[in-house]
Amino acid sequence: MILVTGGAGFIGANFVLDWLRTSDEPVVNLDALTYAGNLENLASLKGDPRHVFVQGDICDRALIDRLFAEHQPRAIVHFAAESHVDRSIHGPGDFVRTNVNGTFTLLEAARGHWMSLEGEARAGFRFHHVSTDEVYGSLGPTDPAFTETKTYEPNSPYSASKAASDHLVRAWHHTYGLPVTTSNCSNNYGPYHFPEKLIPLMIANALAGKPLPVYGDGMQIRDWLFVTDHCSAIRAILANGTPGEVYNVGGWNEKPNIEIVNTLCALLDELKPDPAGSYRRLITYVTDRPGHDRRYAIDARKIERELGWRPAETFDTGIRKTVEWYLANQDWVAHVQSGAYRDWVEKNYAGRE
Ligand code: NAD
Ligand code: DAU
Repeated sequence: MILVTGGAGFIGANFVLDWLRTSDEPVVNLDALTYAGNLENLASLKGDPRHVFVQGDICDRALIDRLFAEHQPRAIVHFAAESHVDRSIHGPGDFVRTNVNGTFTLLEAARGHWMSLEGEARAGFRFHHVSTDEVYGSLGPTDPAFTETKTYEPNSPYSASKAASDHLVRAWHHTYGLPVTTSNCSNNYGPYHFPEKLIPLMIANALAGKPLPVYGDGMQIRDWLFVTDHCSAIRAILANGTPGEVYNVGGWNEKPNIEIVNTLCALLDELKPDPAGSYRRLITYVTDRPGHDRRYAIDARKIERELGWRPAETFDTGIRKTVEWYLANQDWVAHVQSGAYRDWVEKNYAGRE
C-alpha cells in the first residue's frame, strides 16, 4: 500500500480518488483535517476497505512511526501543507511548522523505515514530495519558463516554507540516499478546490451576487493545470521517476488573472444566467497582495520527455468541467463556508479598498 499525507485536501483527495479508480492498491491517508481538510471530499470511499483514513499531524513522529510499522507502505506521497499564500501573509507560523517541521518529521520517519528494509523492498521504496512552482520566484514578461535547474527565489512565507521543505528532501537524498522524487507544479484547479483560492472563490462569490475581488491590476500570470492531470503526473513519477530527480509539472497554459475571471463569468452567464445581468458587473479591483509574484510559467519538457506524461485536459475542457462541478455541488460549497471561512473572508478582504 501507499501512505498519502494531506489526502483530505484539494489535490490530495483528487489523488486518492483517482488512485483507487485506477488501481486496487490500498491507501493509508494521514490528514490533520485543518480548515482545508474535508472528509466530504472522500465520501464516495465510505466503506471501501482499500482506504484507511487516519486523522493526525505530520509533525507527530510517534504516529508516523506507528503507521510505517503497521502498514509497511512501499511509498509515501506527501501533499500535506499549509497552501494558501494570503494566509501565509497573515500568519506564517503554521506554514513553517507544517511545511518545514512536518516534512522534516516525515523524512526522518521514512528514513528509519527505509533503512530497516532489505532487497527489493528497500530498492523500490519512494518518498514523493509534492511542491510548487512558486519556489522559483517571479518571472518578467519575456523570461523563459521555469526549468528544474532554475534558482530558488521564493517571495512569500508560503513559498519560502515550501522551498525549505524541497531543500530538506534534496538533502535527505544526497546525504542519506533516501529514494526521493519531487514535483514542482503550477496552479491546479478543479473539483474540491477550497473557495479561498481564485477560481472557486470567484465562482462562489458570483453565484452569491458578491463582488469578485481582483488583486491589483489583475494582470498577474499563472499557469493553470486541471487537478487530475497533476495526479496523473505524480502517478507517472512514482512509477518511473528516478530517485533524486525533480520534475516540473504544468499545463502550458499561462493566463492573466483577469482573463480567468472573465472566462468564469462567461461560463456562468451561459450555464446559470443571472436575471440581474452578466456576472462581469461584479468584478471589483481591490488592493494588491503584498509581495505579489507577477508571473509563473512552467517548462514541463522533462517530465514529457522522460516519463511520457502529457495533460489530458485543455483549459477550455477543464474550466468548463470545474464550473459544472461547482454548480452541481452547491451543498459542498455551503458546508465549507462555515463560520471559520467567514472569519477568513473578513480578515483578508475587509481591509482592501
Ligand atoms: P489544501 O490546503 O487544499 O490541502 C492541504 C491538506 O493538508 C488538508 O487536507 C489539510 O488538512 C492537510 N494538513 C495541513 N496541515 C497538516 C498537518 N500538520 N498534518 C497533516 N495534515 C495536514 O492544499 P492543496 O491545494 O491540495 O495542496 C496540496 C499540496 O500541493 C501542497 O503541498 C501544496 O504546496 C502543493 N501544491 C498545490 C498547488 C495548488 O495549486 N493548489 C500547486 C502546486 C503544488
Ligand atoms: O503556483 C502554485 C500555487 O498556486 C500553489 O503552490 C498554492 O498552494 C496555490 O494556492 C496557488 O497559489 P496562488 O497564490 O497562485 O493561488 P491563488 O488562487 O490564491 O491566487 C491566484 C492568483 O489570483 C494570484 O495572482 C492572486 C490572485 N487573486 C487571488 C484571490 C484569492 C485575486 O486576484 N483575488 C483573490 O481573491
